Amino acid sequence: MDPRPIGVFDSGLGGLTALRELHALLPGEDLVYFGDTGRVPYGSRGEAVITRYAREDAAFLLGQGVKAVVCACGTVSSVAGALLAREMDCPFVEVVTPAAKAAARATKNGRVGVIATAATTRSGKFPQALRDMDPGIWVRSLACPLFVPLVENGHIAPGDPLATPAVAHYLRPLREEGVDTLILGCTHYPLLAPLIRDYLGDGVALISSGREAALAARERLREEGLLSPRQEGGDCRYFVTDAAGSFASVAEVFLGEPVGRVTPVDISGLEKLELKKE
Ligand code: DGL
Repeated sequence: MDPRPIGVFDSGLGGLTALRELHALLPGEDLVYFGDTGRVPYGSRGEAVITRYAREDAAFLLGQGVKAVVCACGTVSSVAGALLAREMDCPFVEVVTPAAKAAARATKNGRVGVIATAATTRSGKFPQALRDMDPGIWVRSLACPLFVPLVENGHIAPGDPLATPAVAHYLRPLREEGVDTLILGCTHYPLLAPLIRDYLGDGVALISSGREAALAARERLREEGLLSPRQEGGDCRYFVTDAAGSFASVAEVFLGEPVGRVTPVDISGLEKLELKKE
């Protein structure tokens, strides 16, 4: 048993999809959320920059005394997940493996789509994970670079005049190719799930990478005996690197409840910290 909080991070709002699920699964756990809103999006950047940001994000959370880190970002998981897992000495959960496992279980026709950021798509990590699980799975992987700015700017309501045509534009090939399962490989994308479902129909199973990461985190904490002794009453603290007000307003729409105080922080230079305690 361990009463310390669980840390969750993303480049912005997307990791809330994991946070919401974690809170529902483990209502006694305290959570610390970090969104790097000053530098979002990560998905259009190169490997070296994403890796540096990822190390700073993780170092910030470790500085908050968390017992485990959930990397609720498909881009960081794909580009720097293996490195962070090696460098940290607390449990580290990423999104790629849990989401790929859920998709491999869900597909009936063996045709799986993956939508994610440009960096995630370039890394090939989701298709690789799916094929490692089942070499017979056919995978179509697509980048949807406009989805993150749409979400960050609050375009998430069904019928939204900007997001609706963007969803149709990006997802048309997947509809034509008959995938029956779609991995939302960027944690921002489940905020667009109602629009995606309207376009693809109920016959396509949507796999939220954020939700699957939360389920994997619960499993990992349980295995390691690190769950909180409390069954309810866990709270959540929010930290961002910019625009705390607009983060709070979109977060409240998505979470359906007030988020309280969102604290602005400066994390520059933290990548020089050792992630492992000697
Ligand atoms: N939500 C993140 C992801 O899962 C990052 C999106 C971005 O910053 O481009 O990929």
